[in-house]
Amino acid sequence: MNGPWHRLLRPLLFRLDAEAAHEMTLAGLARVSRSRVSLDAIAQVLCADLSPWPVALAGIALRNPIVLAAGLDKDAVAIPAWHALGFGGCEIGTVTPRPQAGNARPRLFRLVDDGGLVNRMGFNSAGAAAVREHLVRGRAAVGDGSDFGVGVNVGKNKDTPLDRAADDYVAAIAVLRDGADWITVNVSSPNTPDLRRLQQPTAVAHLVAAAVAEASAGARRVPVLVKLAPDWEHPDELHATVEAALQGGAAGFVATNTTLQRPLSLRSSHALQAGGLSGAPLRELAFDVMRQVVASCQGRAAVVAAGGITEPADVRERLAAGAAAVQVYSALVFEGPGLPGRWVRDGAHGR
Ligand SMILES: Cc1cc2nc3c(=O)[nH]c(=O)nc-3n(C[C@H](O)[C@H](O)[C@H](O)COP(=O)(O)O)c2cc1C
Repeated sequence: MNGPWHRLLRPLLFRLDAEAAHEMTLAGLARVSRSRVSLDAIAQVLCADLSPWPVALAGIALRNPIVLAAGLDKDAVAIPAWHALGFGGCEIGTVTPRPQAGNARPRLFRLVDDGGLVNRMGFNSAGAAAVREHLVRGRAAVGDGSDFGVGVNVGKNKDTPLDRAADDYVAAIAVLRDGADWITVNVSSPNTPDLRRLQQPTAVAHLVAAAVAEASAGARRVPVLVKLAPDWEHPDELHATVEAALQGGAAGFVATNTTLQRPLSLRSSHALQAGGLSGAPLRELAFDVMRQVVASCQGRAAVVAAGGITEPADVRERLAAGAAAVQVYSALVFEGPGLPGRWVRDGAHGR
């Protein structure tokens, strides 16, 4: 692959600090998102020839199964751009009810030799009220009837005690549900202290029931997915969590978030930075957990695959293993904005 992205843009961006490059790229995409002419031009160049590859995710029709993962567009500033690039949908967030700054910088690192990232962002969020404005505007620009799904991933503020966490999720859902095709309850970020304790069966059943009640209180019943970690001591533990979330009314799962593990194979100097590891080094672990979640669900809920999906073959494998759709973050950083178009072209022809 030696297009302008690999020859020119990527080397330039990779000379910058990872978060600075991220901010610059996202600002560009936000600007594009406000210009109909730019959006049409991008869609014309990158995905005019894309065949539809329709899938359904918890009852939501998507034009293709390649979805932007949460964390890249936390504040929903570039929804029309994700659509123009060819994605089948995007998951915005994690959104916290109140605005918060997240952890101190630097907090995002490229592991170039490993095809991975480590981040400890800590839910930097503009807060639910501001994100709602962006969400409404972004959705209006995309328009209805395009089979482009927008999920909203929600979390708790750092200073909310764990025993009040459900209040935060409910508060965020109340503000954002009208703009969401699905809600994802994030209980698996490793960068908010103790957040993963919300995956314990009793806690997750209570939290999901509260989230489902709130997500069903608007004009439509919005399905609630639960985002799971890839780090489990024992398969029984994961199974119990999935079962409890289903009891609470979960319509699906996103498997997985980033890992706290550090495979011995890592070569990059940033490998031991604190935070969650994503990208190629997460591939096998996330796939294994996804398979276990599919097995536990026994067809009762949708499973969205995330984690280490770095090439079209990964997409095919995860769909064949029972995923309804896939989500991608790290590969986009390495492969650039042509990724969704290339992968859809490959996938639609490979069927
Ligand atoms: C910089 C960064 C920030 C992230 N922020 C979030 C987040 O706010 N909420 C969330 O649920 N997942 C977040 N994630 C996790 C991704 O959504 C995804 O689950 C994970 O990176 C694995 O996919 P990948 O290997 O394709 O990157 C983040 C990932 C990265 C790299």
